[in-house]
Amino acid sequence: LGRPREHWAELGSTNDRALAWARAGAPHGALVTADAQTAGRGRLGRAWASESGEDLYVSAILRPDAGKPIGALGLAVGAGLREGLSRWLPAAQLKWPNDVLVEGRKLAGILCEARWVGSSPEVVVGFGVNVGRSLFPEPLAATATSLRRELGEATPSREAVLGRILPALEAALEQFFSGGFAAIRGRYEPHCALRDRDVFVDMSNGAGPKVQAKALGLADDGALMVALADGGPPRRVESGDVWLA
Ligand code: BTN
Repeated sequence: LGRPREHWAELGSTNDRALAWARAGAPHGALVTADAQTAGRGRLGRAWASESGEDLYVSAILRPDAGKPIGALGLAVGAGLREGLSRWLPAAQLKWPNDVLVEGRKLAGILCEARWVGSSPEVVVGFGVNVGRSLFPEPLAATATSLRRELGEATPSREAVLGRILPALEAALEQFFSGGFAAIRGRYEPHCALRDRDVFVDMSNGAGPKVQAKALGLADDGALMVALADGGPPRRVESGDVWLA
């Protein structure tokens, strides 16, 4: 990942630039980075605060082989990202589907977007890592963290962080493309922040009410399995959102 690479002082969104570059034929592994984004996007239509100039905003173009299942790709990206960051924060955890948390606060987020060209997926994997910022705009102050907030003076440079993330990401993706989520379960599950925890889930893509449940673990296709508090058989959560109770 990273050949070729484009770096911008400011972009609307690195994902948007990568989607356009992919359409124009950029190869597997091409990478877009920016110092700041004016329209950083998160999952479920949310914004991603991107003005600091001290954090990582990265989008990679992937061209998986035709026919490979990519439904759980974001979980592989999360696992790789967490591994790269564990060099500095060994206790970092994954909150399904793919947020990286430190003591319950969000350190990094991932937004995967794909389109099909015939039977071949063209994928943009975007991630933002809070590296150097120590102040967050409300209401993020209570729920977000950064390498700076966790490590103070010992905070590594953005390039050093990216330099650890990319090889870990490559390894996780290679394993995922050869064996699906089952092949990377061992990279994900030991670091899952939700397993056996009480949670609230939104079963309808960010639009519905939060219901109380216990997180049971992940199915082989990467779906989150939960037991709803009002009983019944285990239910699958395939998209949407989940919060620790
Ligand atoms: C989330 O947690 O909801 C996902 C956040 C993803 C943010 C990154 S920053 C780089 C890339 N460009 C974007 O516009 N979004 C992703």
